Amino acid sequence: MGTCVFTDFLCTEGKRMLEFRFEATKFEESWSRKALESFYEEGWIEKVLYRVKGGKEATVYCCQADPETGYDLVAAKIYRHRGLRSMKNYESYREGRFVTTDKRKLRAIKNKSRYGKQSMDSAWIDSEFTFFQTFFRAGADIPEPIAAGPHSMLMDFVGDREAAAPTLHEVRLDTSDAWPLFDRIIENVATFLAYNLIHGDLSAFNILYWEGDFRVIDFPQAISPPENPNAFQSLVRDVERVCQYFEKLGVRESYFDIAEDLWNRYLTRSL
Ligand SMILES: Nc1ncnc2c1ncn2[C@@H]1O[C@H](COP(=O)(O)OP(=O)(O)O)[C@@H](O)[C@H]1O
Ligand SMILES: [Mg+2]
Repeated sequence: MGTCVFTDFLCTEGKRMLEFRFEATKFEESWSRKALESFYEEGWIEKVLYRVKGGKEATVYCCQADPETGYDLVAAKIYRHRGLRSMKNYESYREGRFVTTDKRKLRAIKNKSRYGKQSMDSAWIDSEFTFFQTFFRAGADIPEPIAAGPHSMLMDFVGDREAAAPTLHEVRLDTSDAWPLFDRIIENVATFLAYNLIHGDLSAFNILYWEGDFRVIDFPQAISPPENPNAFQSLVRDVERVCQYFEKLGVRESYFDIAEDLWNRYLTRSL
């Protein structure tokens, strides 16, 4: 057994370890350390500054990036262990949501074998990182994806050292800012559709607002219309939630017309 020296950072057998700058329970620290250690070892991050939020499916931390990466702050999203998570992913699979195109994995998932459950877990994480990469390259307003690890991913942090950006739900926008923001959010929905995907959980809760600008987040449940019989309803619901939020700011648009127009523009050809 190695010795453990407590200084500003923890050492085990003389090895530097990822530093935690906030008080976490032993359980949280060991769980998040496990998930983030590879990012530390690969030279992406050097400190965990604070916990941003423990959400439905994941916990997000604000981390100090290693200066050599060229980033300052990065967000580390750690997915809950399958056992601790809702059954949403399994239900999503049944609804035909995008999970994997690998036939062997799909069969295993269908049979609910152990390999299937593992595949489901990693596919869930891989798919969010892949969506981030695709949409970021396509110019969507989302945080830049940086690295993927087992049960976790790193992306550009929206916010600063003191606090993460609030969600759109938590801010009071000026009515004069409403139209341009609304238009750009709908443009983002169009970008997702151009890549054959629908966010599937778009709302003011999954849009971060920072210094007059926004970033859409939280893609693991994104759906691929050709495989999903409820795709149009999902698109309608995403657009409806955006319209509902902006309605009180004077943006009165028919969510159904917008969704239908987007659907006809981007999807009818491929279905
Ligand atoms: N890149 C980011 N920068 C700052 N905060 C973030 C970032 N990504 C997520 N968050 C914060 O973490 C919360 C949960 O992340 P999210 O991806 O929405 O997962 P969940 O499925 O748990 O809702 C968000 O509501 C937001 O407050
Ligand atoms: Mg969310």
